[in-house]
Formats: sequence, C-alpha cells, structure tokens
Amino acid sequence: MKSLIRKDIEEFKNQLIEIRRYFHQHPELGLKEYKTSKKIYELLKSWDVEVEYLSETGVVGIIKGSNPGKTIALRADIDALPIEENTGLDFSSKHDHAMHACGHDGHITMCLGAAKILSKHREDISGNVKFIFQPAEEGPGGAKMLIEKGVLKNPDVDAVVGLHIWPELPLNSIGVTGGPIMAAADRFDIEVIGKGGHGAIPELSIDPIYAASQLVNTLQSIVSRESSPLESIVLSNCMFHGGDAFNIIPNSVKISGTTRYHNPSFSKTLPKRMDEVVKGVCNTLRCNYEFKYSHWYPVTLNDSDFYKFFKVVAEDVLGTDKVIELKNPSMGAEDFSFYLEKVPGIYFFLGTRDEENGFDKPIHHPEYNFSEDILKTGVELFCNTVLKYLS
Ligand code: NI
Repeated sequence: MKSLIRKDIEEFKNQLIEIRRYFHQHPELGLKEYKTSKKIYELLKSWDVEVEYLSETGVVGIIKGSNPGKTIALRADIDALPIEENTGLDFSSKHDHAMHACGHDGHITMCLGAAKILSKHREDISGNVKFIFQPAEEGPGGAKMLIEKGVLKNPDVDAVVGLHIWPELPLNSIGVTGGPIMAAADRFDIEVIGKGGHGAIPELSIDPIYAASQLVNTLQSIVSRESSPLESIVLSNCMFHGGDAFNIIPNSVKISGTTRYHNPSFSKTLPKRMDEVVKGVCNTLRCNYEFKYSHWYPVTLNDSDFYKFFKVVAEDVLGTDKVIELKNPSMGAEDFSFYLEKVPGIYFFLGTRDEENGFDKPIHHPEYNFSEDILKTGVELFCNTVLKYLS
C-alpha cells in the first residue's frame, strides 16, 4: 500500500506544486479567505469528495470508506499574514499587504493532496476521513468556531492530525512528541490608576509610572520564584503606555502582555497570582487598578497513545533517523489545541530547513519560502496515517 501511495503522489507532484502556487499568489487574512475556500471547495468537488461550507470561509470535506469504522480528521489552516511579500518569486502574492508567510499555502496543498489520493482508495478505507480547512489560525482563531459549528460531529471524529511546516528542522524530517508541543497563549491588560500632577511636586500626586514599573518587576517573581525552574513559563509585558509630557505625572498607565506555558494547570493559577500581585503592588503604592486576563489558545497537547501509533507510521514512511523526538516544545501557540482538547491526536512539525537551496528564512518573514519537495512528504504522511488508522 505504501508504495502504491508513493507512486500516486509522484504522479500528482506537478499538480501539487501548481495548487500551492495558486494559494501562494492569492493569500487572504483570517475570516476573509473567500477565494481560498472557494478554490478548496471546487477542487474537492472535482475529485468527488463530499464537501460543505462550515462558516463563511471554513470548508470540510469527507470521504466515506467502503466499510464502517472510525473517523479521522486532517486539518489545514488556510489564512495568510498581513505582510508585504519580498521573495521575488514569480508566483509572489498578488494581494497587497497579505502573504502566505507561515506556510499555510503548503498546509492547504498537503491536505488537498491527501484528499485527492485517498479518494482513489476508498475501497481500502473502513470508516471516514474528514478534511478540515480552517480559517483564521493566526487570529482571531477558527478552530473553536468550527468545533462549535459541529466539525467534530456527524460522524463523530475519533482522532485528529495536523502539522506545521517548520524551518528549524532539516528538510523532510519531522519533530514530534507525545506531550505538549506548543504552549498556551493568554493575554493580560492592566491599568494602574494614580493621580496626575506636576513632575516637580510628586508628593501631591500618586505616580502610576512608578507603581507600574514596580509591577513589571514584581510580576516576574511569579515565574522566577514561584514556579519550578523545570517548568516552561513566560510572562512578557509587551506594551507599557503612560504619560505624554516630560514634566507631568500622568493619571494612569496601561500595561499589556502575554503569558505562555506548557502545563495546563497554569491557566488557573497564573491569573489568580497575577491578580494578587497587581493588587498588592497597587495597594502598597496607593494606586487603583483594573486587571483583565483572557485565555486565547490552550496548550497543544499531543495524545501519548496516538503518538506511539503515529511514530511507527512516520518512521516507516521517512526512516527512523528522520523522526525526531522533540526535547523542547515550542513556546508559540496554535489553535489546533482546541481540537486536541476534544479528541486525541497529534500535531507535528514538518522540517523544511534547506540552506543550500536558500530555504533558510524563519516563518513570518517577508522572504519566507519552502522547498516544494515537502508537499509530497506531507501528503504521504497524511495518507499513510489515515490508511493505517482506518485499516
Ligand atoms: Ni502558522
């Protein structure tokens, strides 16, 4: 079966590149993926895959096998980034201030490729394969929305698989783990409220800049003094705004930032401790405050049993030396995490590093590009995972 799939993909190789270049030329930002979703819909339809829109720009395809069985879902994120492309490629973005700089054009193509190849092999499938083309991964998030619209239901999904093209790993290798692979990402907003006045007479004011500065320092103690050094946790104050004249103490200061962590228990303890620290520092320095903490994306937590299954498949496809067990998960975040909260599955990184051929830029870079050789590898991994799971 494996060699048959490989042969099918080899024959489809040029079309995969064509498809990828179409999407690369027509990048669209989150929730605005109109051309993208239309093209996905049309291609799936042309391959005789059942397809429907779920939300305005989310598309779901399904292949029902010849026998009943489990349902596995493959997911591709389909949105682009607000970046001006500077690759000089002849298939560069035709849209102003939009670029597939995160490789989602590759993700779409691999998921479509898997649909095309698997549609030819329905008779070897017991169960169903869903193909989830999800909007807005880069923000405001599309996974949660599709789950609420029932993407994991009817038929109920038993396992979910997703990937991200990863320039830090060597070409055609994968990085994967049976635990957390990406971090949770939360947001906090703090307003420290004092009393403005003349910079020469601080005793008549309550200085929110002084209090907010202490707060920036003290918040770090939650990371450095209250959490184990073996836990990965980040607290970054990324915005600090206050004052607009050199000799006036302002009324208030606004601070915003993000927290990242791999241990899901921090989603409860962090906001609680942050609130206590903000309250303590502001009380001590006579300020009032407002504190808002919002959960954005949860931890992307791979299922350890599915990992064992997937590792065998991946090693068979790529060779054991190409399957790298990640020692350090990423501190970035991914809304694939919402699917993994509902059903077991795996998210993995597909390596694209190829310095010799100039593929060495990080994702989200205006010159980012990847070797199109990777498209075949992604399709092959998807197809073999599905066929093994549903055999
Ligand atoms: Ni991405």
